[in-house]
Amino acid sequence: MGKRALIAGASGLVGHKLLHLLLKEPYYTEIIALVRAPLQMQHPKLTEIIVDFDQLDIYERDLAADDVFCCLGTTIKKAKTQEAMCKVDVEYPLTLARLALRQGAQHFLFISSIGANPASRFFYSRIKGIAEQELGQMPYDSLSILRPSLLLGDRQEYRFAERWGGTVYQALPFLFTGPMKKYRAIEAETVARAMYHIARDSTKKTSIYSSLEIEQYAH
Ligand SMILES: NC(=O)c1ccc[n+]([C@@H]2O[C@H](COP(=O)([O-])OP(=O)(O)OC[C@H]3O[C@@H](n4cnc5c(N)ncnc54)[C@H](OP(=O)(O)O)[C@@H]3O)[C@@H](O)[C@H]2O)c1
Repeated sequence: MGKRALIAGASGLVGHKLLHLLLKEPYYTEIIALVRAPLQMQHPKLTEIIVDFDQLDIYERDLAADDVFCCLGTTIKKAKTQEAMCKVDVEYPLTLARLALRQGAQHFLFISSIGANPASRFFYSRIKGIAEQELGQMPYDSLSILRPSLLLGDRQEYRFAERWGGTVYQALPFLFTGPMKKYRAIEAETVARAMYHIARDSTKKTSIYSSLEIEQYAH
């Protein structure tokens, strides 16, 4: 029997790559995309559900899937406040995980970030760490946490850190060798491919994948 995947954040840089990949792969026979605006695409395997993430409970019955891929995220520039950012990076993923688990999901895959740590003095690393910690308390058969470094990919929106970091990485690749290798930027497509392979192959209860391990899994 084919499997059903659920993607939250399917309109984002990684989520969109993942969506296209899963639609191509016969391993999944249905892909549910949770979005807040139409994706403007159609596919026989795709079920698009437009939701208000503040009221995810209402859609609980629609969240039944085997594997749940959480690619949600925002930036402080877009969210404007730390509270609003926490909603997208922590609250929504945790609510989704809780509801999908109740609907029978077995595997939750979460994009965190390099440096995630609930005790970090950096807000972004701290909230990613808190989300990881809370997810770890949920009785999923498998929880996979991916901690990519800086993401590369075609983004409409200008993000200074990505643009600057990507330029440095491409111009001075020798800086990212030895102990600095773990900081080298990673293509969004690579993260998406790794998520798919991990979902298919991993039978571990809880796993955390560093950016370098994500690269290895993508091949
Ligand atoms: N960018 C980096 O360099 C980097 C590095 C390490 C880890 N990460 C993490 O990697 C993950 C994926 O990053 P990405 O660059 O692919 O993300 P992205 O392109 O910014 O996409 C984020 C997704 O989250 C959704 N989203 C944002 N705000 C929302 C809100 N208020 N309510 C509902 N949905 C909302 C977006 O939906 P809409 O299209 O509707 O806005 C989109 O589908 C994120 O968790 C990010 O923190 C990123």
